[in-house]
Amino acid sequence: MIENKKLWWKNGIVYQIYPRSFQDSNGDGIGDLPGIIDRLDYIKNLGVDAIWLSPINPSPDVDFGYDVADYNEIDPKFGTMADFDRFVEEAHKRDLKVIMDLVLNHTSNQHKWFQESKKGIISPYHDWYIWRYPRPKYGFPNNWQSIFGGPAWTYDDTCGKFYYHMFAPEQPDLNWRNPDVRKAMLDVFRFWLDKDVDGFRLDVFNEYFKDAELRDNPYKTGIYLREFDRQEHKYDAAQPEMMPLLKEIRALVNQYKERYLVGESYLVNSAQARTYVGPNKLHAAFDFGYTHTHWSPSAFGNAIQFWDALHEEDAWPNYVMNNHDTRRSASRYAIGDDDTRLKLLAAMHLTLRGTPFLYYGEEIGMRELNLKRSEVQDPVGKYYWPFNKGRDGCRTPMQWDSSLNTGFTSGKPWLRFNNDYPNRNVVAQEADPTSLLNCYKELIRLRSENPALNAGEISLKSLPNQFMLVYTRTSEEQKALIVLNFSILPQTYKPQGDWKLLYCGNDLKRTQMLDGILHMPPFGFAILTD
Ligand code: GLC
Ligand code: CA
Repeated sequence: MIENKKLWWKNGIVYQIYPRSFQDSNGDGIGDLPGIIDRLDYIKNLGVDAIWLSPINPSPDVDFGYDVADYNEIDPKFGTMADFDRFVEEAHKRDLKVIMDLVLNHTSNQHKWFQESKKGIISPYHDWYIWRYPRPKYGFPNNWQSIFGGPAWTYDDTCGKFYYHMFAPEQPDLNWRNPDVRKAMLDVFRFWLDKDVDGFRLDVFNEYFKDAELRDNPYKTGIYLREFDRQEHKYDAAQPEMMPLLKEIRALVNQYKERYLVGESYLVNSAQARTYVGPNKLHAAFDFGYTHTHWSPSAFGNAIQFWDALHEEDAWPNYVMNNHDTRRSASRYAIGDDDTRLKLLAAMHLTLRGTPFLYYGEEIGMRELNLKRSEVQDPVGKYYWPFNKGRDGCRTPMQWDSSLNTGFTSGKPWLRFNNDYPNRNVVAQEADPTSLLNCYKELIRLRSENPALNAGEISLKSLPNQFMLVYTRTSEEQKALIVLNFSILPQTYKPQGDWKLLYCGNDLKRTQMLDGILHMPPFGFAILTD
């Protein structure tokens, strides 16, 4: 049973920061912790409640922090442990919670555990990773593929065996079946909990266990670009051993007050993701459906209804439109440079029953950067170019102002920022009452002030036509009605009963209520209360 009292991770909003790209403080072109501290007032002012930091542990950056070389340290490029402590302290002073990204499925190949492990069975760390001898005739120990391209097995000369990696060869998977690994990992949780971290985002957590016998994955029918997609991921993902482990992790986290666990459920659908959530499992798992839903009220409506229905008594949903792995929603949905559709998307995202996760720059409608081949840094883009240009495009530096380096750095940014920064930036949008940023701020404020919007039940109305999405949010003290016009044509809607218009966007073409009928401009929206 989810408690009725206010909980930061339930009633609040989480803001994800990609630390390399948020704010640089020392001119090396890479964002860092002191930089984030300088921007805490901005984050607080947005009205969000928690910050999720993509990994800040030491990393050789083959996968930009998602290849960790030491779990209990801070990468010097991001600052020192003292900077981290100050970050947590300053965030807490502002009543902002801190969520760390834990990448525990694999380490960097530079991690001392792997360096030891390579020495072979003479090393106590050998069995910390998944090593196998070549299979006679076939070579590779089985048919598993790496999602970053190529076989998931790499041969190591030092020890004469293959090791397994779901991602890049520089990201060997840990052997979670080894009790020493399990213990070391629980210690990682403890280490950061004792540093007063409020929650964790668990990277590809449902990959920790692979089939004990490492059986070949079955093949699917159909034509797929990536070898990885030709297989049904029956044996290299989502194994049942995860469940008891989640229990153990939750029990540990429960020893601390109001902590939160959200998992990146990987290679599973939303119904499967939900199975990892519950009172003695994770608090939440992501449903990534919204990161590739097409612009259609029924597509969004069906996905929301399905995800919501999965979260009854003992779980609380969340909603994510953007993250560091996905083409930015602004480029998926906006028409050209116009943000009207993004305001509608924000109105939906921030009025659903479930914790909204925002990704830095989403609030100013940052667009995806179109990179040239020579600019690509992400291993995914390097391998799959030009079919998949990788994820750099959604990781460009935050556009703070119109100065030469957008206020992000005084040096050369690690990744080029988008050309639209002279017009699309925080300073410009703060000054413009009709900006997307001011729309976000208002929606966030309304969400926190109106109990129906942050805690109420959701009920989708049968669609009045194929252009609109309409739902109510109902709490004990209040009822809200949300009407969203997804079409390029004006629409009208006649709500039943008496409603007061609470908010309908911040530009002049806004929605109006005339004689009990809502008149909505193209892509207009309205939030009403009883
Ligand atoms: C997750 C992260 C992604 C990373 C991968 C390997 O999917 O979100 O950025 O590349 O795990 O750690
Ligand atoms: Ca820096």
